[in-house]
Amino acid sequence: MSATAKSLGTVLCLPGDGIGPEVMAEARRVAEWFAATRGVRFTFTDGLVGGAAYDASGAPLTDATMAQAMAADAVLLGAVGGPKWDNLEFKVKPERGLLRLRKDMELFANLRPALVYPALAEASTLKHEVVAGLDIMIVRELTGGVYFGEPRGITDLGNGQRRGVNTQVYTTAEIHRVARVAFDIARARGKRVCSMEKANVMESGLLWREEVTKLHAAEYTDVQLSHMYADNGAMQLVRNPKQFDVIVTDNLFGDILSDEASMLTGSLGMLPSASLGATDAKGKRRALYEPIHGSAPDIAGKGVANPLATILSFAMMLRYSFGLGAEADLLDRAVGAVLDTGVRTSDIQQAGKKLVSTREMGEAVVDTLGQLAKAGGSKQMAGAH
Ligand code: IPM
Ligand code: MG
Repeated sequence: MSATAKSLGTVLCLPGDGIGPEVMAEARRVAEWFAATRGVRFTFTDGLVGGAAYDASGAPLTDATMAQAMAADAVLLGAVGGPKWDNLEFKVKPERGLLRLRKDMELFANLRPALVYPALAEASTLKHEVVAGLDIMIVRELTGGVYFGEPRGITDLGNGQRRGVNTQVYTTAEIHRVARVAFDIARARGKRVCSMEKANVMESGLLWREEVTKLHAAEYTDVQLSHMYADNGAMQLVRNPKQFDVIVTDNLFGDILSDEASMLTGSLGMLPSASLGATDAKGKRRALYEPIHGSAPDIAGKGVANPLATILSFAMMLRYSFGLGAEADLLDRAVGAVLDTGVRTSDIQQAGKKLVSTREMGEAVVDTLGQLAKAGGSKQMAGAH
């Protein structure tokens, strides 16, 4: 393969706010390495989202950027939000830009892996033996539930009182399509799915449980299915997280449980995510990739943020949008190998390790990619595969 290989598709980059642009720059550095040395080349375009878009245009996502996202093969996003925009009206808050992308692109399945790297097992606040080797995948429903349900709003009751309303709502089809993603992923991993809701309190939770059970019985009996109330699930996640393989849950519980799961790994700065839509007749699906962490305004612009979650989001893009599993594996391995060498950004710094900047971390990943590719290449030539 040569550096002049043709583009595999279009990728819209939306760095966003806070540390977003800094971590995105390192993902782009990694992308350049793949283009130059592996012939894995994409056509990148850049756009604004969140507070950055609001400052430039008065909206957290313009229609033009939305149209670009719809047309792209994949979207890579940094982070949105910050104190500067905290007091904006709800409908123009930075977060609305992200929520519009999810909704309009119909990205109903959010994949949030929680993986403990051997080198970082000590970074968790939990005991080493509880988290060592942890590898779970949370599949969060992303376009329904209380995030989007109607009616919603704040009304003035006129007597000095106000009333806030949101609606939790799910249909059979919404439950089935996200459960299907979870079952399919489980098939390629540990073959176990745990579904979480509050069927003991909420009708929408009861429906969720019944529909997941039905789909399982009809199509996925080779996968082991269990159910948990989400509060118990939250407790089990810190008690014994390794009991889980794939967790499937709704939008709000998924938001909370995935933050919880991320901290089992020691750093929010390490975790990527993929948000996927339905597969069309040509096998294509809309997709957005982003780190789980936020815009971290307190460290923005200082060059100290951890770019690994964004780099790993790029790896998820290679895997899920372009079917480049081997390239994604290579990048995942490079990140693990960089950590093994003792290089750390401040969020994962440990005594005796080498503290590096955002940029140095990106460069370390690129260097390691080069070494691994070379080693892999000579191994292949020796036939030792
Ligand atoms: C997440 C975030 C978002 C969410 C915010 C930024 C709207 O917390 O992606 O988990 O609540 O979904
Ligand atoms: Mg969240």
